[in-house]
This record gives sequence, structure tokens and C-alpha cells, in this order.
Amino acid sequence: MTIDATVPNVARMYDYYLGGYHNFAADREAAEKILAIFPDTPAAAHGNRRFLQRAVRYLSREAGVRQFLDIGAGLPTQGNVHEHTDGRVVYVDNDPVAVAQARALVEDDERVAVAQADLREPEELLADPHVSGHLDLGEPVAVLLVSILHFVPDEADPWAIIARLRDAMAPGSHLVVSHLTLDGVDAGPAGEGTQVYRRSSAPIVPRPRAEIERFFDGFDLVDPGLVWVGQWRPAPGEDATSHGYGAVGIKRS
Ligand SMILES: C[S@@+](CC[C@H](N)C(=O)[O-])C[C@H]1O[C@@H](n2cnc3c(N)ncnc32)[C@H](O)[C@@H]1O
Repeated sequence: MTIDATVPNVARMYDYYLGGYHNFAADREAAEKILAIFPDTPAAAHGNRRFLQRAVRYLSREAGVRQFLDIGAGLPTQGNVHEHTDGRVVYVDNDPVAVAQARALVEDDERVAVAQADLREPEELLADPHVSGHLDLGEPVAVLLVSILHFVPDEADPWAIIARLRDAMAPGSHLVVSHLTLDGVDAGPAGEGTQVYRRSSAPIVPRPRAEIERFFDGFDLVDPGLVWVGQWRPAPGEDATSHGYGAVGIKRS
């Protein structure tokens, strides 16, 4: 595995925001630049994780979903998907470090598999033996795209990628998305933040609400719809700091 530790890596920058240790000096330096512009980024990153966990618990306990495909799963941290469901889980990431760490964490758990694949190549991703061998796509599945789509530029057509995944999902399947936005943020800090990520492993593309809503074409949103992640079925007293919108949708039949 070759790792260029001199290029800030988006998985490791996120790990740093969450207080993890899987990061190098270049990751920390870039992350600190973001923190100087947006000091509440760690609170927002933790809020995004809690959104993911609440969505998985809802799907597992209330919607009866037994299979989860977590694309852009990231470095294992607290509260991973398989800890919030007793269903089958496949973690997917295109970052070899995230994949190696995830494999080390779950190697003894036969409910969980890990694939190295790229969301921008959905056919290959779905055909990866760790995905196709572990999940039955003839049965409902929850596809989790949590804090990953803002690393897929418009030129790669993330809407078409989701449509391809949707076509492969059985009736009763769900889609979970959270996505960074700069709605309500002044142009100055917005531009500075985007600039920091331009020098990272994956330039960031924050999107306005209407563009994020289009990811759910062909899905019906469950309550409360597309909202700030901190407002999606929060537990009482939970911190609501959010840098993005999130929603859960069920595939329209
Ligand atoms: C901000 S982290 C999100 C981690 C986790 N989903 C969460 O929300 O807590 C984004 C992850 O997406 C991964 N990623 C970015 N672009 C990707 C792509 N095209 N295919 C697969 N993974 C990708 C990164 O390596 C990183 O681990």
C-alpha cells in the first residue's frame, strides 16, 4: 500500500475533527486551517456521526432493514454502523488506509465485510466480491452515502451514480445522505474553506439544498424530510450543530 502522507487526506482530516489518531502532520495542518475558519467543525463532524447512527437505528429497528452498504465509510471511529444494527454491513471506501483499518477492526465479525471501491464507478463497486458476496441485492438494502457526495464533483454526475445504485436496489430499500452545504455562509470564509480542500486528496463541493434534494429522485423521504443533520430525529438535548443537510428516503415502487 502506498500512502502519500504529504497530501492532506479527507478521511484523515475528518478523523482529526473527530478527535482520532489516524492522521499525519499534513492532515492536521490542513484540518487546523479549516478549524481557524470554522471553529465548530468538530461539533458538526460529531453531529454528522450521530445523524448516521440515528438513521441506522431507525432503519434497523423501525424500518426492518437487515443489510447496509456504507459507501465512504471512512476510518473506523466510535459508533460504527455495525455497532448500531445486528444486520449485515459492508463498509466501502476508496482510501486504502481506511479500508485496512476497517478490516483490522472487523476481521472476526462475519456480519461485516470491507471493500475498497470507488463510488464514481458504481458498476465495479456493486460487482466487488466483498459487496456482491455479502449482500443480497434482491432483498431491501440501505445505501449510506454519509458525508461523501460532496467529494464527487458535478462532472462525475453524482445524480446519475445514485440513479444507478437505485436501479440495483430492491423495493423497500432506503437511501441515507448527508451532505455539506455553505447555505447561509458568507462568501469569504466559504471560499477560504473550499480552497483548503482544493489541495487535499479530494476537493470539496458543498451544494445548496435544492441540489442535495435531487439526490432523492425516485425516493420518498421519511419524516422529517431533508433537514439540517442535527434536526433529523434528534435525541432530547442533543447538540444540533450542523454543516450539512441529511435525509432518509425509501425507494419508490
Ligand atoms: C468525511 S468522511 C465520512 C465518513 C463517514 N461516512 C461519516 O460520515 O462519518 C468521507 C469518506 O469518503 C471517502 N471517499 C471520498 N471519495 C470517495 C469515493 N469516490 N469513493 C469511495 N470513498 C470515497 C473518503 O476516503 C472518506 O473516508
